[in-house]
Amino acid sequence: MSTTPLHELKAELNHQHRQITAMMQAVRTSGGPLRVEAFEQFRAFLAAHEAAEQTCMHGVARAESSQDLTVVSDRVAEEVDAADALAHLESLDLESPEFSDGFASLSEAIRAHAEAEEYRELPAYHGVVSDEEVRVMVDRMRRVPHLAEDSDGSLTFAQNLDRARHELG
Ligand SMILES: [Fe+2]
Ligand SMILES: [Fe+2]
Repeated sequence: MSTTPLHELKAELNHQHRQITAMMQAVRTSGGPLRVEAFEQFRAFLAAHEAAEQTCMHGVARAESSQDLTVVSDRVAEEVDAADALAHLESLDLESPEFSDGFASLSEAIRAHAEAEEYRELPAYHGVVSDEEVRVMVDRMRRVPHLAEDSDGSLTFAQNLDRARHELG
């Protein structure tokens, strides 16, 4: 079976979602300075990932569709909720039970969000987004790890998001 641009996009998204899952696990299972470091890596990667999705996937799919793609707008709304949850978590002591509970809820929401992107949003691109547009999406999504690596650990999630959006143009 030949690989289509949409298969490539799904593979790249799946790979990044697995990385995000591993990073969330690292935050939950570490403590002290290691938890701080794991949290900083996680928020920089998630921000770059969501910025790339927002600028090159969700927005393009919405613009190309003649109908209101709720499967896309629901994902955008989930990303706004995750950003709000992260802003709250950043205000807490990372060793507190409130942080642990909040982070567990966020992890579950992000897992469900990622699954919906792979299994509900991407199939909706069929016949809506051209192969050429999907190839551009793949190229831009592949920049995510580099954008995250270049981040300064002290940046908040919102600052990382702004920075990544700016870099992605
Ligand atoms: Fe997303
Ligand atoms: Fe995603």
